[in-house]
Amino acid sequence: MKAVIYYYSLEDNTKRIAERIAEGTSMEVCRLIPQKTYPTNGLKFLFGGMDVIFKKTPKLESLSNRPEGYDFIVLATPVWASSFTPAIRSFLGDHNLSGKKIILVATSGGGDASKCFKAMREALGESEIVGEFVIKSPVADNENAADAVVDSIRKCLGGVN
Ligand SMILES: Cc1cc2nc3c(=O)[nH]c(=O)nc-3n(C[C@H](O)[C@H](O)[C@H](O)COP(=O)(O)O)c2cc1C
Repeated sequence: MKAVIYYYSLEDNTKRIAERIAEGTSMEVCRLIPQKTYPTNGLKFLFGGMDVIFKKTPKLESLSNRPEGYDFIVLATPVWASSFTPAIRSFLGDHNLSGKKIILVATSGGGDASKCFKAMREALGESEIVGEFVIKSPVADNENAADAVVDSIRKCLGGVN
């Protein structure tokens, strides 16, 4: 089964997890890069939060791998304002993932990701969601917990190697 990970990451926690999931497998890892950048100081909460609330869909840099050729897709996002990030919204608007198996992964500052996953499920419509996993940030301070979740994600990916 061919699998790919699409992720957005502002401060590399989600990047770290995406790369760890793929380590030692043939999975492709594809970063979503919005053409609009967000600050990494305190203003990120204002600009990022507003874009979530207003359901903005920033234009993305073109993808190195399009999802059409894959059966299994991991979508990884930071939780922003209890939801998913604008870059992921853009990606879901640009690509029809119906009929694909999907695993949802979120990193969060400690908050619950259930609203984020609910919003992603609604945006995904017809796709088959086979797992939802949340990892607490900063990932560097929670390595053991992150490893355990990455193991569970690998198990959920089953036949992908
Ligand atoms: C705009 C913004 C909004 C956020 N909102 C939440 C939130 O609602 N709940 C939460 O637990 N963490 C929230 N966080 C923290 C991030 O989810 C967390 O730090 C995440 O791991 C960052 O991922 P990254 O390093 O890949 O960008 C927010 C961070 C930003 C920048």
